[in-house]
Amino acid sequence: MATAAVLGASGYLGGELLRVLSDHPSLEVVSAVSQRRAGERLGDVAPNLERFQDVRLSGDASAVDADIAFLAQPAGEAMKIVPSLLERGVKVVDLGPDYRLRDPAEYARVYGRPHADAGHLSEAVYGLPEIFGDRIRSARLVANPGCYPTATLLALVPLFEARAIHGPVVVDAKSGTSGAGAQPTPTSHHPEAALTVLPYGAPLHRHVPEMQGVLRELGATPGPFTFVPHLVPLVRGILCSIYPTAAGPADASTWEALYRARYAAHPFVRVGRVARLPWAQGTNRCYLAVERSGDSPVVFSVLDNLGKGGASQAVQNANLLLGWPETLGLTRAGYGI
Ligand SMILES: NC(=O)c1ccc[n+]([C@@H]2O[C@H](COP(=O)([O-])OP(=O)(O)OC[C@H]3O[C@@H](n4cnc5c(N)ncnc54)[C@H](OP(=O)(O)O)[C@@H]3O)[C@@H](O)[C@H]2O)c1
Repeated sequence: MATAAVLGASGYLGGELLRVLSDHPSLEVVSAVSQRRAGERLGDVAPNLERFQDVRLSGDASAVDADIAFLAQPAGEAMKIVPSLLERGVKVVDLGPDYRLRDPAEYARVYGRPHADAGHLSEAVYGLPEIFGDRIRSARLVANPGCYPTATLLALVPLFEARAIHGPVVVDAKSGTSGAGAQPTPTSHHPEAALTVLPYGAPLHRHVPEMQGVLRELGATPGPFTFVPHLVPLVRGILCSIYPTAAGPADASTWEALYRARYAAHPFVRVGRVARLPWAQGTNRCYLAVERSGDSPVVFSVLDNLGKGGASQAVQNANLLLGWPETLGLTRAGYGI
């Protein structure tokens, strides 16, 4: 049994982490850090998390003592604590964006603040296990990807690897409102979001530099990239409709076969004729499907932003960091309808 700490425990991803970890046979949550709910018992904050009900929330992140720490906080928070965690031998999975970009100048441009721990940016491994699993196994700091980049990159990387695409890529993405976090905003607040579909993030969503950086790290040369996210009246889940430009004559069945071969050894990516969001909700699975559309196939990628797009992918990364099978504690079925 290894020990785990969750920072940002009262947020959406913190809560989902604790829920996922409730099923984990080899990770015990011994520490939960919360600014807002410090001093309270976890059982009072979230009565559904019975396994950890007696863990008392602490406001002091510097006192964390565990084999692994999950950081589920807004941008700018992880970089304040990661150096001391690593120094004390704590492995880290950061669910926020602080370690996803390699270049501190780009981080400052995208997130509007200087990076306070630029020294660890090159060490951090991008936590997409289906692509960087070998590197994650020997890492001590993992930058868990954003939810949109997970869905988009799982669809695009095999196509770039096979040189099946070149030129422009268009991603039309939809997300449930839990993607915006627990604090209501003028656009994600229920009365504003419940009866409409809202494009946002223009002109350049923060996830675009993240995705382009990963593709370049893999040796791809991404062409013009159009990414338009929309808020839709769902609580959890993401659908990315992805329109790449085929490098030559292409049909949906060839791309589907390519995906099946690429992900044959990766149980959390499922390839089928269709991809349905309810199958993914509450799970660590991403469902991919390809359809013919005009000259080039279109790819659909769905996942749960709080699951494979966040908390359960973080646990998948923790499994690899701790030398365990990546599926440990993560085989729960989706909600269905
Ligand atoms: N929501 C998603 O679908 C999703 C998916 C992938 C990645 N992410 C990323 O994961 C991180 C957490 O997302 P989330 O949706 O869980 O956000 P959230 O619901 O807003 O929770 C973030 C938590 O961080 C803690 N916190 C610590 N310092 C804070 C500060 N200075 N200001 C505000 N909160 C602070 C708070 O919890 P305590 O009071 O308990 O400390 C807060 O509840 C973010 O970086 C987000 O971009 C989110």
